[in-house]
Amino acid sequence: MKANHVCGKIYHIGVNDRRKPLFENMWPLPGGVAYNSYLVADQKTALLDTVELGTGGSFADEIKQLLGGRELDYLVVNHMELDHSGEIKNILEAFPHVTVVGNKFTLKILQNYWGTVQNFQEVKDGEDLPLGHHILRFVTTPMVHWPESMMTYDLTENVLFAQDAFGAFGTLDGTVFDDQIDLRDYETEMRRYYSNIVGKHSLHVQKALAKLNGVSVSYICPLHGVMWRKNPAHVIALYDKWSRYEAENAVLVLFASMYHNTEVVADYIAGKIVDEGMNNVRVYDVSKTHVSYLISEAWRCKSIVLGSCAYNGGMHPMMEQFCREMEHYGLKNRQLALFGSCSWGGGGLRALQGFADCIGWEASATPVELIGKPDNNKLQQFDQLAKEVVAKLN
Ligand code: FEO
Repeated sequence: MKANHVCGKIYHIGVNDRRKPLFENMWPLPGGVAYNSYLVADQKTALLDTVELGTGGSFADEIKQLLGGRELDYLVVNHMELDHSGEIKNILEAFPHVTVVGNKFTLKILQNYWGTVQNFQEVKDGEDLPLGHHILRFVTTPMVHWPESMMTYDLTENVLFAQDAFGAFGTLDGTVFDDQIDLRDYETEMRRYYSNIVGKHSLHVQKALAKLNGVSVSYICPLHGVMWRKNPAHVIALYDKWSRYEAENAVLVLFASMYHNTEVVADYIAGKIVDEGMNNVRVYDVSKTHVSYLISEAWRCKSIVLGSCAYNGGMHPMMEQFCREMEHYGLKNRQLALFGSCSWGGGGLRALQGFADCIGWEASATPVELIGKPDNNKLQQFDQLAKEVVAKLN
């Protein structure tokens, strides 16, 4: 296992997981995922979080090797989700005298998974732990991403160990810092990670950011993805934007179609929106694109247009899945336009209107429903919808 020097006596120990197809057995990982752990080899030694069980070879042996015969004094548990706590049991066995450091919520979860812990030091919000050169300060950040979640801030070198926050999907392919990657592609997967994993807890992200306000941060060391040293303020600004539900002046058109008729309408509407002067428009088939990408796009776009064919008197099940996810995540401050298509009795548009009532987004256009084949005459009834969508955005 390669240890990458961060600063001072802090080292990053990363594990790439390219085998797992789905994060949390749900979210596709085309580019894999990285689990980060950090070692502080000071007068006292501290390991900050571990990695998912079985992904880091013999993780505890590797840590022993890196310590070169020294004891591990502390294991700081910033987050107990198993992608970071999976190797705790092995660390406890390898270092029986280690003191586990966590807050009042950590111990219960820790024991639920790994049994009795001999040496546990409970720390409070704002409490310090001196290691020698480095002094660690613990900052509780409940529900970013679990109730016990906390961040650790090194007062000496201004390093923020941010656990799940500021992370991303994707492995670290020889690169470990933000100045070594192309941020344009990276931020797309970072937003998918934020919206899918952390987005539901945006209110708590805002509370965590408020705690960091005024704190000097030179390095951000998350548990997934690259470390930020060139421009940590940039990623803090991104999290602030996403957790306030701020969006781009962009239109997202999602459709569910069985025989292409709803798709023809979606493309027609998109074309008309572009004709009206908008150039930031994306169209997706909800049956083709995994919902995690649609959630991420919904986080990006201010205006959302949803269209569904009728299916068993309701909307298409794949559109229903997207709508259910939106209700679950509680995304706010979006504009919504609806359309449907049907052969006889309808139901797709009616069900979408039920979703609109529930989610409470601002309506941007009068809904329209296509009946039967979308010929040129029938398509013109969607011109007004496109006009209203653009007018609302402007
Ligand atoms: Fe990466 Fe909430 O665990």
